[in-house]
Amino acid sequence: MQSEQPSAVQSIEWRDDHVRIIDQTFLPRRTVYSDIRDVGRMWEAIKTMRVRGAPAIGIAAAYGFYLGIRDLPESGYDSFKLEVDRLSEYMISARPTAINLKWAIDRITSSIHAYREKPIPDIKKHVLKIAITIHDEDRRVCRQIGINGQELIGKKANILTHCNTGSLATSQYGTALSVIYHAHEDGKKIHVWVDETRPLLQGARLTAWELLRVGVPMQLIVDSAAGMLMRTGKVDIVLVGTDRVAANGDVANKIGTYALAVLAKENNIPFYVAAPLSSIDMKIEDGDSIPIEERDPKEITTVGTFDIAPNKVKTYNPAFDVTPARYITGFITEKGIIKPDYKKNLAALFE
Ligand code: MRU
Repeated sequence: MQSEQPSAVQSIEWRDDHVRIIDQTFLPRRTVYSDIRDVGRMWEAIKTMRVRGAPAIGIAAAYGFYLGIRDLPESGYDSFKLEVDRLSEYMISARPTAINLKWAIDRITSSIHAYREKPIPDIKKHVLKIAITIHDEDRRVCRQIGINGQELIGKKANILTHCNTGSLATSQYGTALSVIYHAHEDGKKIHVWVDETRPLLQGARLTAWELLRVGVPMQLIVDSAAGMLMRTGKVDIVLVGTDRVAANGDVANKIGTYALAVLAKENNIPFYVAAPLSSIDMKIEDGDSIPIEERDPKEITTVGTFDIAPNKVKTYNPAFDVTPARYITGFITEKGIIKPDYKKNLAALFE
């Protein structure tokens, strides 16, 4: 396969009057594009993870919201506002853990409020403009995270990553994967251990697909191999993304992240979280208050069409876990690397 730029993958695209997404449920077997023209389809795409990854679902929700208000009748502001409130609750209900979704919707609804004296058609146009701005900003933010992360990566490095934090999970480049892409582009000799990331295999299906396209040296591992690799000196740094950072620096991310962080500390390996400011929730004091999404038992009792557990087995399938701040060496943000004291230093980012 010929190497491509990470920017070649556009997980979400606004196409004049509709949104085109790469339907991630088909990867890596096929690259299937799906055109979304109404809010119900966008809600379903987020819920079923056709589009996934915290920044990507924020962008998708923003466009979805516009699709939802686009055809509302042009009556007075009050009835328009009632629909806006109903739609924002609906969009936010699609996935609860990643704050980027609520962040995008809140940004839109507060600007609708600021535009309340304007005619409804102008408000609608303004909402589309904000969705496009959120999308464009994310491109710049992801690129900057990649650049800022370079001070952490030596000329040669073995990097371990979890889930998918790349172009598919964002507008372009990604967060943790942006650091990896930039290191590769800078000619550093990196090698990436890719956790398969049970149960939905975002590592095996998506991260491996992305890294292979760009030609980054990598090896796929089962999640439970990470500890052995760390203990035997085969990992120099762990880089992950996040769905929500609390004000004290606790991090919600894909299930299995906490175990990696504990293993990294035990083995004196730096553990960094790449986090755009849109993933930091200063309203939540600590990780215990972050809502953790529980998903369909079928995700762990089946592989494709095969049952891998007895019928009627009881399951528990949290999609995310919380890593306490004390395990985190630092955050890679678009504003630079943030070190402890997180309470103070994360707050300073928003001043
Ligand atoms: O359930 P997913 O696939 O949406 O979970 C994604 C993750 O946990 C990512 O690590 C996180 O969203 C950061 S993506 C830049």
